[in-house]
Amino acid sequence: MLETVSFTLHNFNAGPSILPKEVFEEASRAILNFNNTGLSILEIGHRTPLFQPVMDEARNLVKELMSLDENHEVLFLHGGATTQFMQVPMNLLNENEIATYTETGTWANKAIKEAKLFGHVEIAGSSKETNYTTIPKNINVTPTAAYLHITTNETIAGTQWHTIPYDCGVPLVADMSSDILSRSIQFNKFDLIYAGAQKNMGAAGVNLVVVNKNILGKVTRKIPTILDYQNHIKEGSMLNTPPVFAIYVVLLTLRWLKKLGGVKAIEKINDEKSKLFYDTLDALPVFKGIVAKEDRSKMNAVFVMENPELEKEFLDLCKNEGMIGVKGHRSVGGFRISMYNALSLESVKAITDLMLDFSNKKG
Ligand SMILES: Cc1ncc(COP(=O)(O)O)c(C=O)c1O
Repeated sequence: MLETVSFTLHNFNAGPSILPKEVFEEASRAILNFNNTGLSILEIGHRTPLFQPVMDEARNLVKELMSLDENHEVLFLHGGATTQFMQVPMNLLNENEIATYTETGTWANKAIKEAKLFGHVEIAGSSKETNYTTIPKNINVTPTAAYLHITTNETIAGTQWHTIPYDCGVPLVADMSSDILSRSIQFNKFDLIYAGAQKNMGAAGVNLVVVNKNILGKVTRKIPTILDYQNHIKEGSMLNTPPVFAIYVVLLTLRWLKKLGGVKAIEKINDEKSKLFYDTLDALPVFKGIVAKEDRSKMNAVFVMENPELEKEFLDLCKNEGMIGVKGHRSVGGFRISMYNALSLESVKAITDLMLDFSNKKG
């Protein structure tokens, strides 16, 4: 018998974060008895007829939900998005070539640092001057660059690209770790997308990589076997033992998303949640958003209080009311409310009601 808590928790964690309840239930069943085989998913071989369908269905669901064409390959890899910071330039950037990056915050800067190990990096646009509270509007991409890299959603800064530079003239690469499958964008127009699964897509331990195979095989350096995307494509993401359980949780989350109506349906719900949150934030003088309105993230809302001395009191109140993960990232302070796909409108209503209450008492 599985035990769960009897009171309501609202999970605003930035990642790992909330997943649909039915995913947790199904995943726990699979640990005890996977597909009525009498075996745990944790004890079956990855190359068996038991697991292969999991991998195949997960791959096909990504293709379907993102409307990808046959040039785009879907990979499930180890190492989190952080590994992709170096794997991308290792596979795409020659030592004497330029890669262009947009500098939008902590995560973009980590990607830039790794790319510099492999070739020349140019900054196509930066929001450093606004302390990363904006997204650059005019970007300048060198036409001969190997690619342009953007971080579609900066999880810590709370910004998001709402106008994607699809027509930048060079292959477009994106770190989509914190807004993957949350809105209908033209996934097919990206040449490489990577995302750690642990926010919108599943459990930590697996990384989704979507890559246009036509951009691969062009660098001259020797790439270690395990880091070469082409090897993973050839082996169907089974070059070595894949993170079996994490991939299974991704599959369950993708099935949930498809049942809900796919990316368009979740976008509508996400729009409703973020509108409720930001409308409340803007209406209450006690709280203050720190991101430029047009660049606000619909996944991670970052805000502070006009009077910082009240912040601890609000955090304590959140804790008492079962609101988890409200404290802002240590580098920014204040608060951060993450509203990933699985977070319900009711949870956003709960926190906005609490903010309203608090504001009435203090305002
Ligand atoms: C936008 C973004 N990129 C990259 C990462 C790093 O992901 P990982 O911890 O899977 O390496 C994170 C983690 O939160 C993130 O939010």
